Amino acid sequence: MSSVQREISGIPKSHTFSVLNELEKAPIALASDSSFRNSFKEKTHLLVKGQGVLLGKLLNNQRSFSFSVYDNDDKKTNGFKLKITANAAGKVSTAQFYCRINGKWELVRNDVESTTKDDFDVFVKTGSGLDPDIKCHYWFSLDSHNRLLRYGKGEVRKSTLLAELHYKAPHENQDDPFEWVSKISSIFYTHDDEKNPDINKNSFIPVKLYRDPLTVDPAMYVVPTDSLTMDDIARNRATVVANLTPTCQQLYNNVAGAKFELNTPDFPHFTDAIEASIASPQGWCYKTLKSKSTEFGGEPNPDQTYLRITMGVNQGDSPGVPFVMEIWPPGHYSPVHNHANANAVIRVLHGEITVNLYPMLSLYHLTPFAVAKFAKGDVTWISPDLNQTHQLRNANIAGPTCITIQCYMYGEGNTEHYDYFDYLESNGQTRNFTPNSDCDFLGFKEKMKQEWLSNYGSGN
Ligand SMILES: [Fe+2]
Repeated sequence: MSSVQREISGIPKSHTFSVLNELEKAPIALASDSSFRNSFKEKTHLLVKGQGVLLGKLLNNQRSFSFSVYDNDDKKTNGFKLKITANAAGKVSTAQFYCRINGKWELVRNDVESTTKDDFDVFVKTGSGLDPDIKCHYWFSLDSHNRLLRYGKGEVRKSTLLAELHYKAPHENQDDPFEWVSKISSIFYTHDDEKNPDINKNSFIPVKLYRDPLTVDPAMYVVPTDSLTMDDIARNRATVVANLTPTCQQLYNNVAGAKFELNTPDFPHFTDAIEASIASPQGWCYKTLKSKSTEFGGEPNPDQTYLRITMGVNQGDSPGVPFVMEIWPPGHYSPVHNHANANAVIRVLHGEITVNLYPMLSLYHLTPFAVAKFAKGDVTWISPDLNQTHQLRNANIAGPTCITIQCYMYGEGNTEHYDYFDYLESNGQTRNFTPNSDCDFLGFKEKMKQEWLSNYGSGN
């Protein structure tokens, strides 16, 4: 893999990005593994001056580090710095913004008197310091249009935002003291050990660079163009397939049609038959679910099970078979897991599913930043960079079984093909799950037909 490579190919070069096509932001993959660590200097050039997001990880998560940006003056007279600190005796790890004006650094805080206080609004949330998870990814966003510096952990999205500095616009008829920010061309990252300045100089490893700054969170619901309203856009509550990655568009167009449904003229009681098979101790669904109670490790857990009914074969472009019908009885759920950096589209065919989203797969980040319910006909999506870590649950205890179609595919630029979904076991260990099959779709449909016939005497 070259050190600079398109993560998602096929996006027109002339493509312009806006709130609507937030999902298509194509990052540049800077380094996928530690073998690149020595090939980077301590700064990354932005693709567009004054804006962009740098995402990276740490080789040594015990050491404080910082992101910083400067004016293009050789003396770096003006600048901003975000220092992310480690736990130290008597101190809690945190993040702190500094501003350098005319060569002098000053801590920026709302709650202290300072010469620059009136120029900024700033917040820092709990948990913004060095992360206990050594695999944690850190991101830093520069947005000179909206006059924002932002920082977070995990997926690059507003929901994972931990600290923000807003440098205020000047009063009318005043010069803008921050005009230099729109001309910034690089983000610096430095390891901040003053006593040992040369140790782990490249402790921060850049992973991806995004052309555009972080602005909004992408909508989770995908709706047909004819259904998208002006309110949907204004409230950022739904998107259309054209805003997804090219691979997600391909998947969506396979499963979003009106005829893609369970109950068809050749078997109009398919969903009833599945429900009956789950309810009856003699049913194939009942027995198969029971046999899976230890699939995700630990003590038998009959509720942490679901059925995977696959369509077709593994064609080498997805983790497991690309099209999987999943069956979730009431109360059943998956472990928290991720998706091998693949694209995915999920459509609900029957019942409803609740999706919890997490910033990363980590024992230390088990509070979902979003919980959304999807009903029959609803569609949601996963890209290599967004919505990767989730937990699915049929939370409708008194309702029907939930049946979803899930389809997965690697992006065109993905040559790694990590064919597992990693998940968190109940003891907090990360494990690999091989996306398997409980039955092929056609064989499963025939089984359900036979069970229905033997119990009710008619396939219709
Ligand atoms: Fe999943």
